[in-house]
Amino acid sequence: MSVIAERLSRIKPSPTIAVTQKARDLKAAGQDVIGLGAGEPDFDTPDNIKEAAIAAIKRGDTKYTAVDGTPELKAAVAAKFKRENGLDYGPEQITVGTGGKQVLYNALMATLDPGDEVVIPAPYWVSYPDMALLAEGEPVIVPCSQNNLFKLQPEDLEAAITDKTKWLILNSPSNPTGSAYSRDEMRAIGEVLERHPHVWVLTDDIYEHIVYDGFTFVTPAQVAPGLMDRTLTLNGVSKAYCMTGWRVGYAGGPVDLIKAMNKVQSQSTTHTSSISQAAAVAALNGPTDFLARNASIFEERRDLVVGMLNQAKGLSCPTPEGAFYVYPSCAGAIGGTTPDGKTIATDDDFVSHLLDGEGVAVVQGAAFGLSPHFRVSYATSTEVLEEACARIQRFCAALN
Ligand SMILES: Cc1ncc(COP(=O)(O)O)c(C=O)c1O
Repeated sequence: MSVIAERLSRIKPSPTIAVTQKARDLKAAGQDVIGLGAGEPDFDTPDNIKEAAIAAIKRGDTKYTAVDGTPELKAAVAAKFKRENGLDYGPEQITVGTGGKQVLYNALMATLDPGDEVVIPAPYWVSYPDMALLAEGEPVIVPCSQNNLFKLQPEDLEAAITDKTKWLILNSPSNPTGSAYSRDEMRAIGEVLERHPHVWVLTDDIYEHIVYDGFTFVTPAQVAPGLMDRTLTLNGVSKAYCMTGWRVGYAGGPVDLIKAMNKVQSQSTTHTSSISQAAAVAALNGPTDFLARNASIFEERRDLVVGMLNQAKGLSCPTPEGAFYVYPSCAGAIGGTTPDGKTIATDDDFVSHLLDGEGVAVVQGAAFGLSPHFRVSYATSTEVLEEACARIQRFCAALN
């Protein structure tokens, strides 16, 4: 009998973390590798946030906190939801966890019974299907094509819903595509959901502040208020506030759901670090001018990367509305052969030969449920991006 639970055989380790680690290992071994696999901003955490954490340590805020977060942080989260999203959540409707990732995990563990279906538009963030599987639910993957900028179409959502559907997971702006739903597009999704009162919405808004070209971010409960009592609005400080290592995520939702999620957390991590919570209070209540500054730096990088990738033979790259990823198609490279005779049959082959041949690490579309594509994270400097895209162009040009 294996010591490993059968449940684990349903899931795989995070492929994006695997690529990032492989690039790190190759670099450590002295190879010239550019990693475009990581999903985190390259900017440092702002000083006012770091100082709040240091002050918390000095004050002795180093003990256990409430499971669902300190009252100060929950108040800051409630104020954020009101100010930025027009959503009214009371303190008992808010939970804080060890990153958005744990909040999502708590939600799925708290709600899924075996056989419950979770509708997940593809391409998706790698953790959604695997977390649903770990919680013994059934992911129902709905492919969303590049022609629709990878966005879920209302008729495809309608067709995916059954009487076993428990959740729809939405992520806008999206990891891995950067696509974001406009108000009208979100309303159209909301209209379908209004016809199916048993379906809950888990909206992952973690890239909310990273949007371009004057795009206005919207979240489902804001544009379809009728959904408020069956929506979990998930967010966090990792991406907007450059705080990936601090591990703070949060969500607002109906009281019974939040209570159930807190129950899961009370028997796992208890809560995220008291010091990180103090830092997150400073982030949410503090100055926000750097958010727009960072977004405009990301926007310039997006334009650079989209422009250069569209000049590469066999690639086509749409221009996304947000996040710091692009998701080009490599359909035109499939069937090609590298100068040393390796065939490219899949996007897995494309990324692995690109890493071997030119030392550029990107993530294969297969990991995100839509092929043949690959994900580029442009959360790195302009010089590095120029060099990486030039290498991708060279790799594509050399294919036979
Ligand atoms: C779409 C999406 N949701 C949630 C997360 C989780 O972020 P964290 O756990 O750092 O809050 C990530 C991180 O990569 C993400 O890309």
